[in-house]
Amino acid sequence: MADLTVEISGVQFRNPVFVASGTFGYGLKLKDTLPVGSLGAIVTKGLTIRPKEGNPPQRLIETPCGLINSIGLENIGIKEFIKAKLPELKKLSTKIIVNISGDSERDYFEAVEIADSTDGIDIIELNVSCPNVEKGGMEFGRNPKMLEKLVRGVRERTRKPLWVKITPNFVDIVEEAQAAVSGGADAITAINTLLGMHVDVENKKFTIPRKFGGFSGPAIRPVALYIVWKLVQSVDVPVVAIGGIDSLNAALQFFFVGASAVQIGTANFIDPRTPFKIIEELGEYLEINGHEKISEIIGVLN
Ligand SMILES: Cc1cc2nc3c(=O)[nH]c(=O)nc-3n(C[C@H](O)[C@H](O)[C@H](O)COP(=O)(O)O)c2cc1C
Repeated sequence: MADLTVEISGVQFRNPVFVASGTFGYGLKLKDTLPVGSLGAIVTKGLTIRPKEGNPPQRLIETPCGLINSIGLENIGIKEFIKAKLPELKKLSTKIIVNISGDSERDYFEAVEIADSTDGIDIIELNVSCPNVEKGGMEFGRNPKMLEKLVRGVRERTRKPLWVKITPNFVDIVEEAQAAVSGGADAITAINTLLGMHVDVENKKFTIPRKFGGFSGPAIRPVALYIVWKLVQSVDVPVVAIGGIDSLNAALQFFFVGASAVQIGTANFIDPRTPFKIIEELGEYLEINGHEKISEIIGVLN
């Protein structure tokens, strides 16, 4: 068997295929039907210091080759997550990445302090790129100075590996990633959703009450691929890729341009077996092509 293990920010993963935040719940719903422990990592639904109800419906709209969501970070809050979900998650032989959001610096700091002192959380992924909330979220990602300050403050509060998930919307993405690295990020995750909109023509209204949402799925893959390629050249920390990855071929494109791992998002809604198929096919691909290790194909185009 080819060696699929990767090391990112000092953490060893059994393989480089993870499930993306918000697309696999807290990781437990499917544990009786799918071998969730065989994933490289589970990234939790976005967590905040206080529970959040999220946005009013309609929250999901299918588009050609994509999805617009306006979930608005509905979640049970980090304390309840640690109490109700983490004990079961810890039993799985996969890494647990906690995705943290906040309305303010203080919110982020409080949630990170809790995550830092909790066993079983392997990595903190800071979401500074959610387009679906009024406060915080993407506003941090769009302002490099604010972002650097936030990441520095978070860095001071945790020894756990810190990844920052950045936004592709209305930013110089390289400047944004560099600000996160200057603040102390150990890796960059890219990309979060693009901004998107849908109009209900029959009723002459915006389909989503907040008017716009986050656009994801195979339609955004070329944008994500370009950004990941660009970031790999521009920052000296690992880049973890997300955006429309739904097959081995799509995952390979990201590995070839230098992604250290891939996260599968919207594809989980179409078929939750997708990440497991990609893991299996990746092993077969390496063997057929005479590679002993996944590292032999990462960045071959750089
Ligand atoms: C329904 C839904 C909920 C999401 N929730 C979160 C979230 O809570 N935190 C986060 O960082 N990203 C969230 N995302 C963004 C995804 O993790 C991912 O970055 C994005 O969808 C692009 O990848 P994809 O095209 O593979 O879906 C969400 C995406 C979707 C579709």
